[in-house]
Amino acid sequence: MKEIVSFINRRHQLIQHMEDGVAIIPTAPEAIRNRDSHYLYRFDSYFYYLTGFTEPESVLLLVAGEKPRSVLFCRDKDIEREIWDGFRHGPEGAKEVFGVDEAYSISRLDELAPQLLANQPRLHYSLGADASWDARVTGWLNQVRAQVRGGVSAPAEIADVRLLLDEMRLFKSEGEIAIMRRAAEISSGAHRRAMRATKPGSTEYEIEAELIHEFRRHGAQSPAYHSIVAGGANACVLHYVFNDAPLRDGDLLLIDAGCELDGYASDITRTFPVNGKFSSPQRDLYELVLASQAAAIEAVRPGNHWNAPHEAALQVLVRGFIDFGLCKGTVDAVLESGDYRRFYMHRTGHWLGLDVHDAGEYKKNGEWRLLEPGMALTVEPGCYVRPADNVPEHYWNIGIRIEDDAVVTQQGCDIITQAAPKSVADIEALMAS
Ligand code: GLY
Ligand code: MN
Ligand code: MN
Repeated sequence: MKEIVSFINRRHQLIQHMEDGVAIIPTAPEAIRNRDSHYLYRFDSYFYYLTGFTEPESVLLLVAGEKPRSVLFCRDKDIEREIWDGFRHGPEGAKEVFGVDEAYSISRLDELAPQLLANQPRLHYSLGADASWDARVTGWLNQVRAQVRGGVSAPAEIADVRLLLDEMRLFKSEGEIAIMRRAAEISSGAHRRAMRATKPGSTEYEIEAELIHEFRRHGAQSPAYHSIVAGGANACVLHYVFNDAPLRDGDLLLIDAGCELDGYASDITRTFPVNGKFSSPQRDLYELVLASQAAAIEAVRPGNHWNAPHEAALQVLVRGFIDFGLCKGTVDAVLESGDYRRFYMHRTGHWLGLDVHDAGEYKKNGEWRLLEPGMALTVEPGCYVRPADNVPEHYWNIGIRIEDDAVVTQQGCDIITQAAPKSVADIEALMAS
């Protein structure tokens, strides 16, 4: 049972931040896969954050000012449709269960939205996020403007409601962190399951199936993003999606996979040997990435700026790239020239929450923002070596990433994905058992 009160509180908070005007927050449209088959429906994260309501064809309007209130538009009860597609709350049920002040049929939206916008100074809306909603909202504004000779005024300003919501979403409540911990625990179990299942001759898709099995058997609704199960050279393709190759003795397997539980993402990467034993060159680079991740995690603490973990990881990685003959020169020179990007071309993390790459600004007034308790982020350095003349051949086609999920605490951070093994000894022990 969801804690409806936290959704109600978020609506109150947003109304306070808005100060005046009306906010319009539609949920996501359903998406057709082909003909009359749909993709599994996923609500819009902003809408869900404020309602907890997961049905498609729904819109939330929030009115700030003297008479603040929340108004939900949703699908009507429809026994015929419910026989085919399942339960619908209907406006009355939704009002009762989700604690909104008013609820109406979605079929009345075009009639009631212009009334709610009349004489309001500001519209808070995510202009540009969806062209069809933009057109519809513009139509409502024009309807209000057309009443000007009757003394009705239309909002003079449009503010991006996402800016207010992004800042709220950046700080996770205890309730949100509890869900994220559970998602992380399920995903960690899936990575352990994948390690146990992997052997030379398995295929990437068999291992992907193990991940999905573990996600679903614990009630996670879906993967939070398409799982990357990349053996050997495939690990050097950062967004590898095919997952269709055989796994070869002597190769590494990189798995980037995490479940979504009750709307919240987890995001874990582990890299391990298909045959259970790291070779010497694989171990060189693996220990290097692991050390860089430890340095980055050490830098995840309140008062440090967003980029501090990335900078800490880079110091360690670049030192190692030079020691292993991948880059030439001093650490400072390689950092300055950016030559390390041949082997490490992404950043060390991102905000994590309802979206895997979650809402929230990384800079404020042009400066990296400071980490504060309650923020959640990933820490995910890597190293990807494609074959090239000037690169030692024993490192060719090795791709490694190690990714954990962190919640910033008062003292430092809490790694909520610890249960997925990552030391060489722990991985080799698990795979031998
Ligand atoms: N799995 C997506 C990412 O690591 O950013
Ligand atoms: Mn990530
Ligand atoms: Mn990831």
